[in-house]
Amino acid sequence: MAVLSWTPPAPAQDEASSAYRPQGHFRVERPADLTDAEALSIYRRILDDSVAVYRLSGDPSAARYRRWLRVSTTPYRSATHGERFVSNYANDIGRAYRAFETAGPMPVGAILAKDSFAVTARGDVFTGPLFLMEKMAPGFLPEARDWRYSMIMPDGSLFGQTKGPGSEQVAFCITCHATAGDEADHLFFVPKQYRIGGPGLNSQ
Ligand code: HEC
Repeated sequence: MAVLSWTPPAPAQDEASSAYRPQGHFRVERPADLTDAEALSIYRRILDDSVAVYRLSGDPSAARYRRWLRVSTTPYRSATHGERFVSNYANDIGRAYRAFETAGPMPVGAILAKDSFAVTARGDVFTGPLFLMEKMAPGFLPEARDWRYSMIMPDGSLFGQTKGPGSEQVAFCITCHATAGDEADHLFFVPKQYRIGGPGLNSQ
């Protein structure tokens, strides 16, 4: 992958005094034809910076998720999450997620995280939002199968959280995920070719 230009991130500021740490920025050639390996290579370059801004939100999952089980092989374009390149993780309690359609309902405390980055038509690379689903106690929100959805923006702000700040902003998560059905516990799962243990790039 040819990286045309690279500007290193600005020096880290005191996290408490700054809501936003500027990102490193780079541009790639022929963004429309990115291969899986190139997407993975971009991901590896930006992950530290992405996590640094996600964790400004103070959400404990934002600081932890990168050490969870990654259930997707390489970042893939997700039409339903803004055409961004996404990667998926499951915490320890949610590790049954790796069985995908045969996983059964997730236990209370299961957390699924999906980070993202965008590559513009010009090839500029930007961190995208962090999407979270956390299985809450029974009765939290039956119509959402007790999933709490959160969306953390790439400046560390919380766009919305089910039954929390900006709840109405993440109502669309529930509406779409409900169409996956109760049997699937409102989960859509990773596209088959990007699953760990699947037929895709499994070398990592
Ligand atoms: C229009 C439909 C749609 C909307 C809206 C949507 N999602 Fe998803 N979501 C999907 C699909 C399809 C997948 C699986 C494929 C993929 O990764 O693109 C998925 C996967 C996920 C996963 C991995 C767990 C799973 O279902 O297998 C998480 C976490 C997630 N979405 C969070 C969110 C959050 C948080 C929001 C709202 C901010 C949201 N999603 C909005 C369709 C949607």
